[in-house]
Amino acid sequence: MKNLNFSIDKNKCISCNACVKDCPRDIIKNPDGKIPGIPPELAADCLECQHCLAVCPTAAISILGVSPDDCLPLTIGSLPTLAQETRLLRGRRSIRQFRQQNVNPGQIQELLATVANSPTGCNDRALRFTVIDDLAVMRRLLVRLVNLLEFEINQGRLDAESFLAEAVTAYRKDGTDNFFRGAPHALIVSAGPAATCPVEDANIALSYFELLAQSAGLGTLWCGMLKFALDAAPELKKVLKLDGEQYFYTVLFGIPAVHYARTVQRDNAAEVRRIAIDEL
Ligand SMILES: Cc1cc2nc3c(=O)[nH]c(=O)nc-3n(C[C@H](O)[C@H](O)[C@H](O)COP(=O)(O)O)c2cc1C
Repeated sequence: MKNLNFSIDKNKCISCNACVKDCPRDIIKNPDGKIPGIPPELAADCLECQHCLAVCPTAAISILGVSPDDCLPLTIGSLPTLAQETRLLRGRRSIRQFRQQNVNPGQIQELLATVANSPTGCNDRALRFTVIDDLAVMRRLLVRLVNLLEFEINQGRLDAESFLAEAVTAYRKDGTDNFFRGAPHALIVSAGPAATCPVEDANIALSYFELLAQSAGLGTLWCGMLKFALDAAPELKKVLKLDGEQYFYTVLFGIPAVHYARTVQRDNAAEVRRIAIDEL
């Protein structure tokens, strides 16, 4: 029997049934209209989403070892405004100039703890966060990557005309880093075998990370190059423990060495299609 540690403080519960109504699995019951509860035989169906804890207006519910005191209150006006969010989203840019210094590991941990709350399909949270939080490790990874790609080219397994091969050539010529763009850190989010929505889950988490990082004064860069490079050099995938994962993607990050004075304006890039009622 699954133990959810679901408890309701009877002195706080006002029997409003907000938890009953909001439970996505409909496992919270209140047949006599007094104090809601989860029948033991339904516990296994719990999605572990914590909606009951979050929706309770009187902070009466604890579940899975989490109590209302562990949560941030969501009072009116406590969230960023639409104008602030708009500026954040439009102000986010790909950073390709970074300070060559480490970000405080405690700050990275704090950001990742928040990102771990991003939504996942079926709430199965089968994501792994692999972080390179040391500039020296990042530099070693770059050297390793270039060596391995070169090996693949020499073996004839990687096209010498490919963009990866071009990046290797540029690096060998004068140290130009078209792989990591000098970023001191990388976050690789991978979805393990249990993930129902591996691609969506990993990319949502990375998107949350990138926006949060920006608010923490950090710059980010999605890194398709690492994805392609690891696919071309599977040995390194093993070293990074990504070989058994269903999917992974990477966002590089660090303290930016560039400041953008204004937002991006490419609104016309979105072709918005409306479905009219007579089309259905
Ligand atoms: C999935 C994805 C992969 C990307 N991979 C790289 C990359 O490997 N190297 C790079 O310099 N930029 C990469 N970018 C950044 C894009 O080039 C960039 O988002 C785009 O030019 C728009 O610029 P902006 O992000 O500053 O608004 C990637 C972006 C995305 C969304």
